[in-house]
Amino acid sequence: MNIVTAKELIKEYGKLRAVNSINFDIGKGECFGFLGPNGAGKSTVMGIIHCYMPPTSGEVRVFDINVTNDPSMIKSKLGVMPQDNNLDPDLSVLENLIVYARYFNISKKEAMSTSKNLLNFIEMESKANVNIKDLSGGMQRRLLLARALINHPEIIILDEPTTGLDPHSRHAVWDQLSLLKSRGITLILTTHYMEEAENICDRVAIMDAGKIIATDSPSKLIAKYGGNLESVYLTLTGHELKS
Ligand SMILES: Nc1ncnc2c1ncn2[C@@H]1O[C@H](COP(=O)(O)OP(=O)(O)OP(=O)(O)O)[C@@H](O)[C@H]1O
Ligand SMILES: [Mg+2]
Repeated sequence: MNIVTAKELIKEYGKLRAVNSINFDIGKGECFGFLGPNGAGKSTVMGIIHCYMPPTSGEVRVFDINVTNDPSMIKSKLGVMPQDNNLDPDLSVLENLIVYARYFNISKKEAMSTSKNLLNFIEMESKANVNIKDLSGGMQRRLLLARALINHPEIIILDEPTTGLDPHSRHAVWDQLSLLKSRGITLILTTHYMEEAENICDRVAIMDAGKIIATDSPSKLIAKYGGNLESVYLTLTGHELKS
């Protein structure tokens, strides 16, 4: 069963066509990755899926609901880890989670217990009362992941979840994402790390200049083009990856 479908999706910012008539389906429980160089349109596609902005044309359905028809319903069942840190710098770690829970009409009591569980999940219980400004960049990314889970979402959108993390923290996030996937949660992510895509994505869509060039499992792409996912990416996009 598909949980997200996009048909002939186009997104224009003024005269710039950032997403140029793309089609894709994401199955329930799948981990689906969008890969591609800076400016390819990945975050734009994610923004449309989580109803942050509407498509210019084409149809996107999430939970079989058209994103332009009932964005509130879709948002209530989605979690979003944005590319940029938008934690509240004036609040503590725990307060950030509790305040965010209010957007979903979660009671104070439930927000407190869910937040504590989530801090346990990201191994940051000892940081509960620390100010955001005093967290490392990697801890802030992990807190953004926890915050995305506050409403027990069925789909989690992760825009570059491990950018800036050290290898240990990156592996910890992969473990957490695998655990979420084993609970049946659908994961939709972008990444510039091919190792990450190979490790956790069931399928990837490789994008360039607003188009999807290929959609398949990492292993099938490698079987088709040879080498590894990094060389497949280079062959298809012509862009070297920064090491
Ligand atoms: N709010 C906006 N207004 C105008 N142009 C935008 C806006 N957001 C993105 N763009 C443009 O749309 C194109 C696609 O941007 P997008 O952020 O979707 O790329 P991306 O694939 O996520 O890139 P990155 O890997 O750098 O995060 C870029 O040319 C970008 O400059
Ligand atoms: Mg982006």
